[in-house]
Amino acid sequence: MNRILVTGGAGFIGSNFVHHVVGNTDAQVTVLDKLTYASTEESLAGLPEDRVRLVVGDIADASVVDPLVEEADAVVHYAAESHNDNSLSDPGPFIQTNIVGTFTLLEAARRYDRRFHHVSTDEVYGDLDLDDPKRFTEDTPYNPSSPYSASKAGSDHLVRAWVRSFGVRATISNCSNNYGPWQHVEKFIPRQITEVIDGRRPRVYGDGLNVRDWIHTSDHSSAVLAILDRGRTGETYLIGADGERSNLDVVRAILRHFGRDDDDIEWVTDRAGHDRRYAIESGKLRSELGWTPQFEDFEAGLSDTIEWYQANEAWWRPAKAATEAAYAAKGQ
Ligand code: NAD
Ligand code: DAU
Repeated sequence: MNRILVTGGAGFIGSNFVHHVVGNTDAQVTVLDKLTYASTEESLAGLPEDRVRLVVGDIADASVVDPLVEEADAVVHYAAESHNDNSLSDPGPFIQTNIVGTFTLLEAARRYDRRFHHVSTDEVYGDLDLDDPKRFTEDTPYNPSSPYSASKAGSDHLVRAWVRSFGVRATISNCSNNYGPWQHVEKFIPRQITEVIDGRRPRVYGDGLNVRDWIHTSDHSSAVLAILDRGRTGETYLIGADGERSNLDVVRAILRHFGRDDDDIEWVTDRAGHDRRYAIESGKLRSELGWTPQFEDFEAGLSDTIEWYQANEAWWRPAKAATEAAYAAKGQ
């Protein structure tokens, strides 16, 4: 595949994927991104201009999408409204971008018969109890909890329908919680790191025992490239790196990194409908496509990430005050 259209390629995970493609293939990349609050062009800085082009536009606008899909060999679709808390305050943009936007891209992929990879989330499966020995697999029934996860589940169903009804050459991946550089300070790990840098206490929802299955965003990128390269049309692949940790454990690791007391925590209002636990069984991806994660030590990856936020304050600082003001207004 020589020409790849990456939607949402100026966001956290999409920009990491663009760097990964440039570093590991000869492909030309076009990024289609609306440049919402969640994106920054800096995340694409330094990439070769003859390999990477940014087009600013909306994935729900067929007049923008159609010519870009036509000129590409493959579409890798990351663009989304991605934050659960925002979807609880204002669900509308999640329906528009995640469902109508995905529909618009699928129609273009159908029209021009282009390979399509849809990037989705483990949240479409709902949540697990803390003591449940099970993990999510490709056969777990859909059971989303929030407007965000329901909109991603809706987009997954559209992809499956376009494969079956129209023969679109699509694959889907459902990944667990990503961490690493360039993640917006609204999200859990960057929020807590930057709170501690600012001399404040980490803000933990509920009892802090909710579990997320952390994966470094570079490992997500290598998995998506493997699926694009060798994945079977119509198949879903779960992506995870066996990184289950409670929120409390993550916050304590951040506090310890800064030499702060383990219990120096601000307990804040819980998220409505807060999912208890996510956990991924990624055996299909590993055995069928030979993928393995490189970041197997979560604590080491977290330390690298903390150091990145310490070194890149100029990048995250402009978004920090408004993000905290919005959380404070909700008691969080
Ligand atoms: P992000 O919010 O950091 O980035 C989203 C990007 O999409 C931004 O650059 C934004 O400008 C762009 N975008 C939003 N609406 C758009 C529109 N209408 N048209 C064009 N561009 C638009 O999100 P992220 O965390 O990087 O997530 C990327 C994808 O990965 C999403 O589809 C998300 O559901 C999925 N995912 C995320 C995680 C995670 O842990 N963050 C885990 C699994 C899957
Ligand atoms: O599982 C994949 C999903 O992971 C992705 O689909 C989403 O795009 C991504 O945002 C993420 O969703 P979460 O809701 O799990 O991530 P978030 O960073 O918002 O929160 C992680 C956990 O931390 C969750 O249990 C809520 C909790 N939390 C979050 C914030 C922002 C806190 O306790 N305090 C906080 O300040």
